Amino acid sequence: MISLPEIEKEIKQMEQDVANCRRCGLWKTRNNPVAGEGPVTAKVMFIGEAPGYNEDIQGRPFVGKAGKIFDELLRSVGLERKDVYITNILKCRPPKNRDPLGEEIKACTPYLNKQITCIQLSVIGTLGNFASSYVLDKFGFQAEKIGKIHGKTFRIKNLLFDARIIPLYHPAAAVYNPNMKDVLIQDFKSITKALQR
Ligand code: URA
Ligand code: SF4
Repeated sequence: MISLPEIEKEIKQMEQDVANCRRCGLWKTRNNPVAGEGPVTAKVMFIGEAPGYNEDIQGRPFVGKAGKIFDELLRSVGLERKDVYITNILKCRPPKNRDPLGEEIKACTPYLNKQITCIQLSVIGTLGNFASSYVLDKFGFQAEKIGKIHGKTFRIKNLLFDARIIPLYHPAAAVYNPNMKDVLIQDFKSITKALQR
């Protein structure tokens, strides 16, 4: 198992690599890359889609409208930002928040993979379709649409991991839809359950 200082060093290096990255075209239009944030000792990691307008300005994940809802959801299960690691599939904002392209996901996910392997997680909460299908697929699960699998728990158990993936709706879906927020609150309880095991 790698030591804490080594993990911190790897994550710092990854942040620097993201800051200098030109592996896909998105570096040209971004204001700031958003590598991710949170303690490297976090037991829970959340993975969203890509930075939006506010994230691109501030260089931090989930700080806009969807971020407000995300904070509420965290609080609903007794967690705070300082307890969790938060990142995205893409580290730079796609113009006008368009969907990530396959080639961008391919170029950018080595950074996410580094985050997933370095931080010794118990739970990965994937927010929305893009994060859910990428992570489920990576660990060999059949990734169905989020409407079908949200709130379910997928267990990863191999030599490196004993963790759980919990696909969740993207909090942005709840910005104008209070019913969706109720579903998210319900689904977030799967995180607490997975942490208690
Ligand atoms: N939506 C995302 O997917 N990620 C963010 O960081 C903000 C909004
Ligand atoms: Fe590099 Fe990812 Fe930004 Fe593309 S989105 S430039 S791969 S950091």
